[in-house]
Amino acid sequence: MSTVKVTKICCIGAGYVGGPTCAVIALRCPHVQVTIVDLNKARIDAWNSPDFKLPIYEPGLEDVVRKARDRNLFFSTDVDKGIQDADLIFVSVNTPTKKSGVGAGFAADLNYVELATRRIAAVATSNKIVVEKSTVPCRTAESMRTILEANSKPNCRFDILSNPEFLAEGTAISDLFKPDRVLIGSLQTLEGKAACSALAEVYANWVPADRILTVGLWSSELSKLAANAMLAQRISSINALSAICEATGANIDEVAHAVGFDSRVGPKFLRASVGFGGSCFQKDILNLVYLSESLHLPEVAEYWKQVVVMNEYQKRRFSKTVVDTLFNTITGKRIAVLGFAFKADTGDTRESPAITLIRDFQSEKALINVYDPQVEHEQIWADLTEASPSTPLASIQKQVSICSSALEACKNAEAVVIATEWKEFRDIDWEQVYKGMNKPAFVFDGRLLVDADKLRKIGFKVNTIGRGERM
Ligand SMILES: NC(=O)c1ccc[n+]([C@@H]2O[C@H](COP(=O)([O-])OP(=O)(O)OC[C@H]3O[C@@H](n4cnc5c(N)ncnc54)[C@H](O)[C@@H]3O)[C@@H](O)[C@H]2O)c1
Repeated sequence: MSTVKVTKICCIGAGYVGGPTCAVIALRCPHVQVTIVDLNKARIDAWNSPDFKLPIYEPGLEDVVRKARDRNLFFSTDVDKGIQDADLIFVSVNTPTKKSGVGAGFAADLNYVELATRRIAAVATSNKIVVEKSTVPCRTAESMRTILEANSKPNCRFDILSNPEFLAEGTAISDLFKPDRVLIGSLQTLEGKAACSALAEVYANWVPADRILTVGLWSSELSKLAANAMLAQRISSINALSAICEATGANIDEVAHAVGFDSRVGPKFLRASVGFGGSCFQKDILNLVYLSESLHLPEVAEYWKQVVVMNEYQKRRFSKTVVDTLFNTITGKRIAVLGFAFKADTGDTRESPAITLIRDFQSEKALINVYDPQVEHEQIWADLTEASPSTPLASIQKQVSICSSALEACKNAEAVVIATEWKEFRDIDWEQVYKGMNKPAFVFDGRLLVDADKLRKIGFKVNTIGRGERM
């Protein structure tokens, strides 16, 4: 079994995964040339921008790109050249939930993976290791192999690996520097194992050997879906308990603390909130639901579906609490929504709970002021338009205003809704916020972020998720 020495890597897809992942590989492997390619010219231009105005916000990312770009890290729209030059290719393209056709609303749309795979087959003139980095349903690698083998040139062999990415947005760079594990799946053939060793050798430049796990191809694919499903399940479990806390007077922080002290459960990911968002959790669970149904396992499908049902319930429950508390109507009232990103330390808004909350407030005819420290205004308008496709943007803009600071957003508002756990919201001058608001002034903390007692002393009426206490 001779291991290929990887010296040139191409990554297809310069998004939230491809960009940071391969930038870190370039930084940690100065002897490997890394080229990240994408069809989206604006995105590539932003990665190459002279003043490092990168297309995604991620703490620590700019520093990595500054150190590696134009040394052994390159960004390009020339996908074909990237493929031809490389001995190992990561496929890091998007795999969103299908919007139409068979499996719509559940199955992953594998069109981008297929197009990228067909491009590799069409232009490759030498052997390649092709690595599935995108999150895909179990046995996608088999389809990729079939496409590659049916379309390749003679004497051009492809080995397929699965290497799912476990980074979390907001902490992507530290996750990549010190991953809990790197998972590599391969066929258990001599060639498959050799390809697996070649990729493992790349990671071994900075990841300890005992953190590089090698498994079968299908286990690797399924492990990624399983990991996300179980993480999201923890959030839905604690959120379900938060509803019981509110009804009984228990405190979800205390419950989570007590439960998390059990070493079998552990303390992480037990924070109640307005609901999970992001491009992955919902998509990957729905994908698992679809997979289970396709495998004629309806009980398994129903079990996982409930995680998403609970998440939707939590968002609706929160917006209903706002309406109920503001004397059963928010018509014409100004609500300040602090945060639009799906979590702190990212500019990503995909499936952000803020979108659902604002849409609910719009349908109650409220006036909404939004502020987020990172999200581009254009993105907010695009998301709100997508959420209410029958409402023209001009009508949305009569109800929704985007503000340039939290203080400005809260001016003349009846209520502040904390939708994202940005640290700066904890530290804003709440006395000043209070002075500028209509009275009674309400704060609805959807992220367990602020010190409710401190705010009550100022005069606010505070509602915190999972706390059945007086306002
Ligand atoms: N975002 C996360 O936190 C995260 C974490 C782990 C895994 N994942 C998975 O990684 C994959 C990528 O996610 P993302 O968030 O980076 O998506 P993204 O939408 O940010 O980036 C994907 C990029 O691929 C490009 N692309 C699509 N088809 C292409 C083609 N044929 N040739 C060249 N470029 C092409 C798109 O233009 C886009 O820029 C998904 O499968 C996702 O589930 C995401």
